[in-house]
Amino acid sequence: MWKPPQRIAYRSSRGLVPSRAEAAASRLYSPIAVGNLALAQRSWVPAMVPWRATEDGVVTEDVIAWYRRFARGRPGAIVVEATGIRDIPSGPLLRIGHDRFLPGLRRLVDTVRAESGGATRLFIQLIDFLTIRRRPDPSRYLSQFLAITPRHRHLLDMAGADDDAVRARLLSLSRPVLGSVLTEREREALDFGYRERVTDIHLPHIADLPNVLPDLFAAAAVRARAAGFDGVELHYAHAYTMASFLSATNRRQDGYGGPQQNRVRLPLEVYGAVRAAAGSDYVVGCRYLAEECIGGGSELSDAVYFGTEFARAGMDFLSTSRGGKFEDASQPAVGAAAYPYTGPSGYECIPQYLSDEHGPFGRNLAPTRAIRAAVRAAGLATPVVCTGGIHNFAMAERALAEGVCDIVGAARQSLADPDWFRKVALGLGHTVRTCEYTNYCEGLDGKHKPVTCQLWDRVALDAADARLTGDRRRRLEAPDWAPPDDKGATK
Ligand SMILES: Cc1cc2nc3c(=O)[nH]c(=O)nc-3n(C[C@H](O)[C@H](O)[C@H](O)COP(=O)(O)O)c2cc1C
Ligand code: SF4
Repeated sequence: MWKPPQRIAYRSSRGLVPSRAEAAASRLYSPIAVGNLALAQRSWVPAMVPWRATEDGVVTEDVIAWYRRFARGRPGAIVVEATGIRDIPSGPLLRIGHDRFLPGLRRLVDTVRAESGGATRLFIQLIDFLTIRRRPDPSRYLSQFLAITPRHRHLLDMAGADDDAVRARLLSLSRPVLGSVLTEREREALDFGYRERVTDIHLPHIADLPNVLPDLFAAAAVRARAAGFDGVELHYAHAYTMASFLSATNRRQDGYGGPQQNRVRLPLEVYGAVRAAAGSDYVVGCRYLAEECIGGGSELSDAVYFGTEFARAGMDFLSTSRGGKFEDASQPAVGAAAYPYTGPSGYECIPQYLSDEHGPFGRNLAPTRAIRAAVRAAGLATPVVCTGGIHNFAMAERALAEGVCDIVGAARQSLADPDWFRKVALGLGHTVRTCEYTNYCEGLDGKHKPVTCQLWDRVALDAADARLTGDRRRRLEAPDWAPPDDKGATK
């Protein structure tokens, strides 16, 4: 993963630990309304893909156990990982594109409800993404995958030659000469793997996205409701389809690209279809980017506009993230796919402890505050969730007090210690296992391996309750923790 060249090392800390009474009186542990729902506290576990579904996208025992473990910490809300809305093979990513996925998803809902004693609200993140292929072996790319065009023949002075002859010639070229014969997209397909864009409207299925996506998202939201989820989070962030429509790089000429009001059109249409299908009383919000963090990408002024439009349209929450784009991702190895968290924008999304002068803790605070202020200035009370490097009570409380957000998201801190909200609430904040922001977990995610935390995945491997990875070298969930009796917990 890319790191800022300054390589300044930052250390996380537990910060000021409140007593149980102080926690009870705090903003973090005060309730908040999200649409028609009440969250018991303003803590939020954002979506994290743990790579535990089957290859067919079905909920497994490992998926159930993963969310059960988070539910024990009783956060205000958990957002289930990015879940595919189409009925197409997507590797071990959860899916919700057909009714056959419902039994597993229902079990997941029931598990979280039971394990949190009903204290935690459960949302599911709905995602659509475009095709991305693995980086090919160069000779296979030139001899099989590349479509030979008149341009190649012209540049190689091979008018009338058959495809095989052109391929043989391409294979014989030095890299600089080959680079000049291929188009920019062909070079990208060779060096990074083929990747579709929302601007490829010469492809019928890409041109058709505005026609098909509202219904696909709406059907997925109806299924989410049928499975018992408290609401849905539309994934409008990072490198995926909906974020690509919002992106300043979207130059579609069909009324869905170019100026801000065109770029927000499809996300609003998707929201409208979801709202109409799932019901006015169902919680529907979105996750989107406060800043894209790539050259030519959307900036805070875009996000302020989008956020205000989403809120005005009636979304029940806005959750911000940043970066996480393909445009600056590092080159994958041959046989691997590009990953949107490997470049500078990926760093902005999932920053680690080696950082620049801004540090890894709270890079999204200032832009999120600006978005929330604009939403409030428009007379809208939509709750805003801020995430990114927030890892202790004092940071969370400050973000709430300073008007950055209404709800605090903590992804990796919750992975490091899924009980941390509960421990702090009980006055046991000194026992919290604090995330060190090493991004060991993110490294596993990038390789599509089961995500675990290095602070606990080798602990007590032989314990009776330990469920292990296939190679039996890592535990799949954090070790159990139970609060001592109330007397011991009260300070
Ligand atoms: C292993 C892993 C998987 C993630 N998967 C998702 C995802 O499915 N959807 C999403 O919006 N963000 C995803 N993220 C980003 C997190 O939700 C969060 O925005 C990011 O980790 C920064 O917050 P943090 O500093 O609290 O960890 C993932 C992050 C990690 C570490
Ligand atoms: S592996 Fe654990 S400590 Fe390291 S960043 Fe991930 S959650 Fe934090």
